[in-house]
Amino acid sequence: MLRLDGIEAGYGAKTVISGVSFALEPGQILAFLGHNGAGKTTTLKAAMGLLPLRAGQVSFDDQRIDRLSVADRVALGLRLLPEGRGIFPDLSVAENIEVVAARNAGANAMFSPDDVFKLFPVLEERRATRAGSMSGGQQQMLALSLAILGTPRCLMLDEPSIGLAPNLVERMFEQVRQVCKSHAMTAVLVEQNVAAALKIADRVAIMNNGQIVFDGSPDEARASNVWHYF
Ligand SMILES: Nc1ncnc2c1ncn2[C@@H]1O[C@H](COP(=O)(O)OP(=O)(O)OP(=O)(O)O)[C@@H](O)[C@H]1O
Ligand SMILES: [Mg+2]
Repeated sequence: MLRLDGIEAGYGAKTVISGVSFALEPGQILAFLGHNGAGKTTTLKAAMGLLPLRAGQVSFDDQRIDRLSVADRVALGLRLLPEGRGIFPDLSVAENIEVVAARNAGANAMFSPDDVFKLFPVLEERRATRAGSMSGGQQQMLALSLAILGTPRCLMLDEPSIGLAPNLVERMFEQVRQVCKSHAMTAVLVEQNVAAALKIADRVAIMNNGQIVFDGSPDEARASNVWHYF
């Protein structure tokens, strides 16, 4: 579904990631791990089109998308939950959801506003609350809800567990897993919470200094010596 082939990207004169490749099947969850500054966020931004490629290709359903705009990639079903929340803090919860649903959720959408309220009942209770005044964990649930509105087919989550209580992380990841399995949605999960990520992952990729140094199953990752990269 999502395929990176030898992508290279960076900022100004600096190349940050190079030769980054992975390919994901529908329904697969990839835990994408690595130390701070390894290049995980840069990889997701390059895949989303927020950062130009300096080399390599990005494909979605076997079609190259690396020359498409971000909006066109979103229309195909590629989504990024950005590091540090992508919500409108001055709008209410309901307004946040309406704004994004108006753009992403048509009549045949996989996830309508009602569906996300079912996933996160606390958001329904807080429909009228200004989003920026909710707790960090509630804001994170809203951010995830916005990312899945419409018909996401590949969801890239950049450290979604930040600020969430451990039991909430487990619940949220379990929901992500169920959505992936029931809707053949693919997920790329960048996480510092390695244990929680490995629990739901089908595959693990580990990045070090801008390159992928491990790609395998969670069991292979657990048994390997890749952890010295952390
Ligand atoms: N906007 C930017 N301008 C210049 N350099 C940047 C920019 N964003 C990131 N970098 C640099 O690129 C490298 C990789 O950063 P990136 O944010 O991709 O890492 P990361 O793996 O997501 O780290 P973290 O786990 O801390 O989020 C770092 O050396 C960082 O300083
Ligand atoms: Mg990052």
